[in-house]
Amino acid sequence: MEKSPREELREIVGQIRGHLEAQRDLGVEVADLRWPAGATASPASLPTLDHVREELGDCTRCKLHSTRTQIVFGVGNPKADLVFVGEAPGADEDAQGEPFVGRAGQLLTKIIEAMGMRREDVYICNILKCRPPNNRPPEADEILACQPFLLKQLQAIGPKFICALGGPSTQTLLQTKEAISRLRGKFFDFHGIPLLPTFHPAYLLRNPSEKKTVWEDMKLLMQRMRQS
Ligand code: URA
Repeated sequence: MEKSPREELREIVGQIRGHLEAQRDLGVEVADLRWPAGATASPASLPTLDHVREELGDCTRCKLHSTRTQIVFGVGNPKADLVFVGEAPGADEDAQGEPFVGRAGQLLTKIIEAMGMRREDVYICNILKCRPPNNRPPEADEILACQPFLLKQLQAIGPKFICALGGPSTQTLLQTKEAISRLRGKFFDFHGIPLLPTFHPAYLLRNPSEKKTVWEDMKLLMQRMRQS
């Protein structure tokens, strides 16, 4: 028997509730990363990546400015359907001014190509735009200072999907302390954009047996992208 509109609505609400409860069980709070003002404005009035880069300027908002060589803003298609968000530039990225160009970056490029795309088709950036000394993990004040620019980048691009690479990137975007091993391979909602966490390519260099896990995650992502 056909369902009434009321029954259909009840079912959808039930599904949403189940989804939110599953996210909450994984420690994911509704992100208090506020989407920058203007998100509901018409596309013509949204900032472009060039505007965001201009606003960032020769940034001195956190202590990393004093040790960096240069800002590593992001690279790729400014209207990409898919954005990869990593952690922070390393030595190679700091030297070249482009994210994911070192060994981990080469592995990320291989992953993107195995998905049938080129680096230029997607957009690649990090939660931090400057290299932490000795590649130490990002600190809270640095993440906080850089966060508005990441959000504006995402707003300017308007991707259909986000892939968060590794714990710090996923935890920052989803505002959770939950381990990446529990979050990976599942889609989460980031301001209406499906976000898939997976292991960071640098982790795969240290743990090559997990490459197949990431490939499973990428297959999920490709499937969702094909359906969209
Ligand atoms: N690791 C990252 O998270 N980002 C880069 O740009 C390079 C390595």
